[in-house]
Amino acid sequence: MKKLTRTETASILAKGIPAYIAGYPTVVSLEMTYSCCNDCKHCNMGGIIEDEKRIGPEGYRKLMKRLKPVIVQVSGGEPLLRKDLVEVLKAVKPAGSAAPYLIVVTNGWLLTEEKYLAMREAGINQLSISLCFPDERHDQWRGTKGLFAKLDKTIPALAALGHDDIVLNCAITRENMPYIMDIARVAERWGVSISYSAYSVLRTGNRDYTISSEEDLEQLHGQFDQLRSYKELNCGRIMNADFNLQGTLEFFEKGEMKSCSAGKRFLVVTPQGTLKPCSMHDKEYTSIRQIKREFVPYNDCGGCYVSIRSYLERPLPALIKEYFAQHSVDRKPNEAVGAVR
Ligand SMILES: C[S@@+](CC[C@H](N)C(=O)[O-])C[C@H]1O[C@@H](n2cnc3c(N)ncnc32)[C@H](O)[C@@H]1O
Ligand code: SF4
Ligand code: SF4
Repeated sequence: MKKLTRTETASILAKGIPAYIAGYPTVVSLEMTYSCCNDCKHCNMGGIIEDEKRIGPEGYRKLMKRLKPVIVQVSGGEPLLRKDLVEVLKAVKPAGSAAPYLIVVTNGWLLTEEKYLAMREAGINQLSISLCFPDERHDQWRGTKGLFAKLDKTIPALAALGHDDIVLNCAITRENMPYIMDIARVAERWGVSISYSAYSVLRTGNRDYTISSEEDLEQLHGQFDQLRSYKELNCGRIMNADFNLQGTLEFFEKGEMKSCSAGKRFLVVTPQGTLKPCSMHDKEYTSIRQIKREFVPYNDCGGCYVSIRSYLERPLPALIKEYFAQHSVDRKPNEAVGAVR
């Protein structure tokens, strides 16, 4: 991933530190729609929701003033289904401002060079594209024929533009765990970075995709050992910090990971503009104060280990070092890196 300049980092910190001290969430995830053009086996979404109640750019502008996040993740459902996506991005990040650090998470099905460049122009720092398998098995998993071929064509072409801001997102399940290294090599071939997170049963209730047997856990250990060696060699394409990989192993071993900072360090905005502590819980709230009063003190959930959750359990200085510095490497875009077999 591209390194932030000193000025950008300073500007993000100048906004982020006072907000952090005042108790505002560091990360806000905007779930812009619950409609989706894929139908993934590990997710509860899929299909178009008619007449969904949604806020528009002005609504998001107001929310940003209320929530003051350092990092904004635009997600869904599938955010590229929103025709006003670019206008919303511009509302979230005022022109010429370094903050917030802006990420769009997409399945990539509707992605084109034109849309990518428009999102960049609107100020995104990172485009995260989900990848569950290293080949056409991705289509089956995501219920979308031709999806892998589309990504295989589009992503290297976008990476070749040299902006170094594309990261693959891979949610590890029992089904794709044997191919973790193969997926890392696809990222290398496409010239982009990759970040892994853990499957949570909370979305679907399906335990078949989690990793729990001794045999499977042993295989996951082996995959992560290879990933760590690969990480050392490949100049920063693997985004996960070592503590995060360790945490992922622990999460699968124990079946949960408690003490999460949902509602405190991060929260979610629903398409209609209400707040939720995290994407896995359905109850909606109207203010940060209400979440802090009614959810945070009683939250005993340890049901997921998504990346952002694990980073936000670190103190802010460590988060900044790990997210903005360790993830950022001085590497020329598309520079060839060695593979570990
Ligand atoms: C909910 S999707 C929304 C954005 C977009 N539709 C996409 O797939 O990238 C965001 C991320 O959550 C991941 N995800 C979906 N269901 C999950 C689950 N049960 N556990 C962990 N991650 C999950 C997806 O693979 C994706 O990378
Ligand atoms: S993971 Fe993303 S693409 Fe897949 S069904 Fe869920 S929202 Fe849609
Ligand atoms: S562990 Fe935290 S972020 Fe994850 S599902 Fe539970 S409350 Fe939400």
